Amino acid sequence: MLNELFKYLKKPDLYEQSTSEFWDDEHISKGMLEAHLNPNWEAASRCHDFIDKSVEWICKIAPSSTNRILLDLGCGPGMYTERLYNKGYIITGIDYSKRSINYAKEKAQERNQDINYIYKNYMEIDYKNEFDLVILIYCDFAVLSDSNREVLLKKIYDSLKPGGKFVFDVFTLKEFEDKKENKTWYISEESGFWKPEKHICLESRFIYEGDVSLEQYVIIDKDGKADVIRNWFKGYTKDTIINEVKRAGFHKIDIYSDVTGKAYFDTSNTMCIVVEK
Ligand SMILES: C[S@@+](CC[C@H](N)C(=O)[O-])C[C@H]1O[C@@H](n2cnc3c(N)ncnc32)[C@H](O)[C@@H]1O
Repeated sequence: MLNELFKYLKKPDLYEQSTSEFWDDEHISKGMLEAHLNPNWEAASRCHDFIDKSVEWICKIAPSSTNRILLDLGCGPGMYTERLYNKGYIITGIDYSKRSINYAKEKAQERNQDINYIYKNYMEIDYKNEFDLVILIYCDFAVLSDSNREVLLKKIYDSLKPGGKFVFDVFTLKEFEDKKENKTWYISEESGFWKPEKHICLESRFIYEGDVSLEQYVIIDKDGKADVIRNWFKGYTKDTIINEVKRAGFHKIDIYSDVTGKAYFDTSNTMCIVVEK
């Protein structure tokens, strides 16, 4: 047990993977769904008034009259898709949280919304020239390793029709400016975020070259078994994100501060990128 813990508390190699599920874990996904659905809790989704503004803006820059066939990658329980459907888009939403996709499907049925929800890892999509608009919202692109980001950008490019748009957001370096490496821990005496019964959480932050940081959680359950969840984040500058999308073949690159279309400013924590195939 101690040897295992020593192993987990050492700084991992860049982009070393988690040992268990995060979004699709039976227990964690309950808390995440609650967070998505809470209108004022900026955790799994942004606050709902932000999402409303975001949808209005997306409809301006890529209206359903010209960009009707839409793919939402990491759609969660459908916070964007349910709104965009009402604006006239034909929508496919993909997510690998079973709980979120099941919730989205139930709600679509209740509301009589014909949305195609798919439980799938978006790294495995294989569409060719099918969509007018692809969105990937709430900074999920930058949790991927260098090679996975390259693969995903290529898949998104291929999935778009010529002239189709891709809208996504990332964190800037500003988000990580004051964050230092650290280690801390806590005991949860009963059910908590990570486990349905008592557990210990050893939390670490590690900083890497290339503007990458890792939030690592080692969760020790009541039987002494340890799971490790690693959430990686890359921070971007305008230049670094422009280079990546250009390498994938995109052009007409517009940069905003966020997904409501706020003009870009240097101290913004996020950046929204709109590119065209
Ligand atoms: C931060 S949440 C954002 C959800 C949604 N875009 C929103 O803003 O409300 C990220 C979502 O992406 C999903 N996700 C993360 N990685 C994924 C992958 N490789 N394939 C499919 N879904 C993924 C998670 O299950 C989660 O629902």
